[in-house]
Amino acid sequence: MTRIAPATAEDVPSVLGIECGAFMRPWSHDALLAETARPESRFALAADGDRVLGYAVTRCYPDWAELCCIAVAADARRRGVGSLLLADAEARAAERGAGRLLLEVHADNAAALAAYIGRGYVASGRRAGYYERPPGDAILMELSLCGAVPVSASAASGGGGAALRQFESISFMRFS
Ligand SMILES: CC(C)(COP(=O)(O)OP(=O)(O)OC[C@H]1O[C@@H](n2cnc3c(N)ncnc32)[C@H](O)[C@@H]1OP(=O)(O)O)[C@@H](O)C(=O)NCCC(=O)NCCS
Repeated sequence: MTRIAPATAEDVPSVLGIECGAFMRPWSHDALLAETARPESRFALAADGDRVLGYAVTRCYPDWAELCCIAVAADARRRGVGSLLLADAEARAAERGAGRLLLEVHADNAAALAAYIGRGYVASGRRAGYYERPPGDAILMELSLCGAVPVSASAASGGGGAALRQFESISFMRFS
């Protein structure tokens, strides 16, 4: 059973292992450690027993919030862990008064784009050449926290089609 809980300093080495496996420019141990103590941060851990499956860092400001980082261990993906972490980030940001949740994602990161679009995030812009490793553009996305779409509701209401249409338009943006 996967549980979501706040990360502590003791969790940082496990998180770092997932971070290093997921990103070419991972956050450092000290950067992750700092997030466990940052008042505006929600540093959430997904765990099954003692095993850390994934994590997400969300910084919450008075009107908006930013999903700074999310990753799931490679062998635990496509089991709903990322969705649980996103749901937690959205709920915590809304609790703290944020009206929208913003994020940046590599334009080639099809898995993350699909996860965000499936939850109702919309593309709001693009930063050309934003990422160096691997090189690529950033897609800016945001979710209105007044009308977040839960995964199950999205699937039940045919959200997949809308997600696909948005994904196609993002693919188009790559070449425009
Ligand atoms: C993005 C990430 C966090 C998703 O985590 P996850 O636990 O696999 O996500 P879920 O199982 O909750 O999947 C939710 C939905 O996302 C979409 N999705 C996830 N992985 C996908 C993939 N490889 N291909 C296509 N769609 C995918 C699907 O729509 C999925 O729903 P479904 O399984 O019912 O079809 C994970 O792939 C990851 O850690 N990637 C590496 C780090 C990263 O890129 N982070 C994002 C930085 S912006």
